[in-house]
Amino acid sequence: MTDANMTDKSTTDFLIWVKDKQDHIEMVLDEVLPSETSAPEKLHEAMRYSILGGGKRVRALLCYAAAELCATTATAADAAACAVEMIHAYSLVHDDMPCMDNDDLRRGKPSCHKQYDDATALLVGDALQSLAFDVLSTPTLCENANQQISMLNILAKASGSSGMAGGQAIDLASIGKSLTQTELETMHQLKTGALIQAATLLGASGGSHEQMSAVMSYAEHIGLAFQVVDDILDVEADTNTLGKTAGKDAESSKPTYVTILGLDLAKELADQLYQTAISALIPFGEDAKRLRELAGFILHRSF
Ligand code: IPE
Ligand code: IPE
Ligand code: MG
Ligand code: MG
Ligand code: MG
Repeated sequence: MTDANMTDKSTTDFLIWVKDKQDHIEMVLDEVLPSETSAPEKLHEAMRYSILGGGKRVRALLCYAAAELCATTATAADAAACAVEMIHAYSLVHDDMPCMDNDDLRRGKPSCHKQYDDATALLVGDALQSLAFDVLSTPTLCENANQQISMLNILAKASGSSGMAGGQAIDLASIGKSLTQTELETMHQLKTGALIQAATLLGASGGSHEQMSAVMSYAEHIGLAFQVVDDILDVEADTNTLGKTAGKDAESSKPTYVTILGLDLAKELADQLYQTAISALIPFGEDAKRLRELAGFILHRSF
């Protein structure tokens, strides 16, 4: 078999894995979310509208890949993937609101506040956040209660003011300002990196300390790369492909890696971060195949 054939074969194998996990997390979320026929119907419908049927599910994929590597149980991995996707969906619903990025389009559909109203969008975020911790705190999720408490702690820290919410606050306070690269890195690590790290670490939570620290180093670099690529796509991709409004960062005078470094250097940085992330997986050899492939997926994605 030629190298090209082998590459085609492994790409197909990876894409089948991705589709399988995306379908799986969709099913798990569908089961966990309250029915839209139960009261309060409008809130439940809006929660389902905001989280089901869209998104790349990168955080769930990272969680499942790390779980496969570290032999975390399927039950714990499902709860973790579900909880992280809920926090992520809540962050997007709030991010799109007029008081934040004021975006009308998300995942190819009207944003939650456009489809419903501002109050509903606020409550969708609140309720998804609570549901995330509800799912992750399900009694007897893990045989080891300490593992479960530490999972809850990881998600709480990644979501709050020293994680995603804190990064969003810095993002809004930075409109129209020029940040240093270090300041921008801090902002991106918090608003996006923290949850991506949490997703990966929660997946790895059944592993040893050594495994978790190697996975953490991978996740730190790929989490930052993720937002660098998001900044690049905002400039280079079109609204149709993105499923969200292109050119929004420039329109809103947001400092991004593109405004600070320019497109070429931003791409170089994304590539360097990818390489560093991959190097952290060397100790795992072939077992880290999915995490390596996901790093490539994050770097080369078109939306
Ligand atoms: C978009 O995240 C928001 C950022 C943190 C950059 P994703 O690009 O993962 O969005 P979905 O889940 O695929 O819609
Ligand atoms: C969003 O960053 C980060 C969070 C939602 C936490 P962006 O504002 O760049 O995300 P998009 O581009 O709207 O998806
Ligand atoms: Mg934003
Ligand atoms: Mg936004
Ligand atoms: Mg963006």
